[in-house]
Amino acid sequence: MEERKWFKEMSMYQIWPRSFKDGNGDGIGDLKGVMSKLDYIKSLGVDAIWFSPLYVSPQADYGYDIADYCDINPDYGTLDEFKEVLAAAHERGLKVIMDLVINHTSDQHEWFKKSVKREEPFTDFYIWRDGKGKNGKKAPNNWMSTFPGSAWEYVPERGQYYLHLYAKEQPDLNHDNPTVREYIKKVMRFWLDMGVDGFREDVITEISKADGLPNGFPLMPASRGMEHYNHGPHIHEYLSDYRTVIKDYDAFQVGEAPLLTPKKALGYVVGDERELDMCIGFQHMEADCILIGWLKTPFSLKKLKKVYDNWQTTLYQKGWNANYLENHDQPRVISRYGSEKYRVESGKALAMMYSFLSGTQFIYQGQEIGMTCPYFDKYPEGTDPWAQFKDVSTFCVRDLMRKFGFSQKHILKVAHTAARDCARTPVQWTAGKNAGFSDGEPWYAVNPNYTEVNVEAAEKDPNSLLNFYRKIIALRKQYKDAAVYGKFEIHLKRHPHLFVYDKIAEDGTKLTVVLNLSDKAIPCKKFAKYIPSDAQELLSVYDGCSFAAVTKPYEGKLYISNVRTGE
Ligand code: GLC
Ligand code: CA
Repeated sequence: MEERKWFKEMSMYQIWPRSFKDGNGDGIGDLKGVMSKLDYIKSLGVDAIWFSPLYVSPQADYGYDIADYCDINPDYGTLDEFKEVLAAAHERGLKVIMDLVINHTSDQHEWFKKSVKREEPFTDFYIWRDGKGKNGKKAPNNWMSTFPGSAWEYVPERGQYYLHLYAKEQPDLNHDNPTVREYIKKVMRFWLDMGVDGFREDVITEISKADGLPNGFPLMPASRGMEHYNHGPHIHEYLSDYRTVIKDYDAFQVGEAPLLTPKKALGYVVGDERELDMCIGFQHMEADCILIGWLKTPFSLKKLKKVYDNWQTTLYQKGWNANYLENHDQPRVISRYGSEKYRVESGKALAMMYSFLSGTQFIYQGQEIGMTCPYFDKYPEGTDPWAQFKDVSTFCVRDLMRKFGFSQKHILKVAHTAARDCARTPVQWTAGKNAGFSDGEPWYAVNPNYTEVNVEAAEKDPNSLLNFYRKIIALRKQYKDAAVYGKFEIHLKRHPHLFVYDKIAEDGTKLTVVLNLSDKAIPCKKFAKYIPSDAQELLSVYDGCSFAAVTKPYEGKLYISNVRTGE
């Protein structure tokens, strides 16, 4: 039997603060803005909020470069304002999860500045190495950053190179140093003592680097060396160390884990001795690309179903999963796996697809109203198309693709559904000025479709995606024995457009999800036999009509059957 836990039943709403809601008119999202939208978040039926980094940061990677772990970025407000938001969230029964970014800090962090100067105890807080070759002018090894370019930066003042797996402003912490781990644990306790309920841990499986830092596979143009630092030799030891803090508070942990397979996940998320409660993996976000969004392939539902089948089956009654379709790194899913033409319909179908899988549900700001990727490849003549982008990784990938001979046109076209910028446009609240995001000039362009796609309009329409999400979140709870804890069984594995699966509770109650994830007219006799004869419809992409001879675009339904009554 699957062990019941509060965190398994959660639906969690992710806030990327800069673009959520501006409360003081300076064009940047902030805590005041969050405060004004807490009732809205609560109204979705979710149980928790995950804040992408709110901490002091020079914003080289929009908050994932932290200069002070124990204070709030002045753009977002103050620590007191955070405490108010925390209390107000708790009053509404919403848990609050903070982003914990400990693979690296900002190069503006005190620890790093002191490390440069070899001030104790910070001398070995980072991964410093002498250069190689004559005069020590060559990098210590051939590793490349995830944001392409060398993973090493030379600091004349210290006469050594430091490792950075991300931007050069993000030096990697040396977790092999026990003092570093003590400092991190203090940071964790700081937030847990304040009352936060847990952490989302950034690229956490990368914190243990192989001894001797051996060269990586030379043909990798980015993240070179990953085989030596992802799921590294001491990862379980270090995570268990951090877990001791979590256990003291009965808090919650979800860890971001690049290149994760279900089998690998079992090494982190099983039983009372687990090091994490669940992992954020990536395989299901690779149904329209090869490893990274920029290497595009046509969307393959078959590939996606295979991934879900593998995860749902391998983790069943053993480990736990984090189910998401969007976040601040993943461009809007309707533009990727769905259809902008059938925005609402495909948005509903995708929502149904992932909401009844076993795992904790994550929803990213704006996903619930069906925000789409902005068209950065359509720009006024004579202007610089790249001026619209702000994300450090976009520029790095662009430069790399240029080197490989891709045309500007191609790179811009791919950027539409690959650049992280496309997930980061301001939330569209109203059809008014700046989409109701800010009274001032927004820090980032609002998607022009805000006149049609916005919260205010969606609230008024009973058939909107927003109201559909509310129903889904409620149904997932109401039928949690099947939806959250049930056994997954897939049908028509090889069909290119149909996704049909059951979730079966211990008592036999069965949820059946039937989806056409395309705009094609598919004969309904293809799937009719999977709808049990006693099935009752719970939810439908097209309200108020039954399946005709062939499917409509993105048509789908959720059924319940074999319900035990009177027991
Ligand atoms: C994670 C974050 C991403 C960030 C990176 C480095 O993948 O989600 O936004 O750039 O780690 O911190
Ligand atoms: Ca502001």
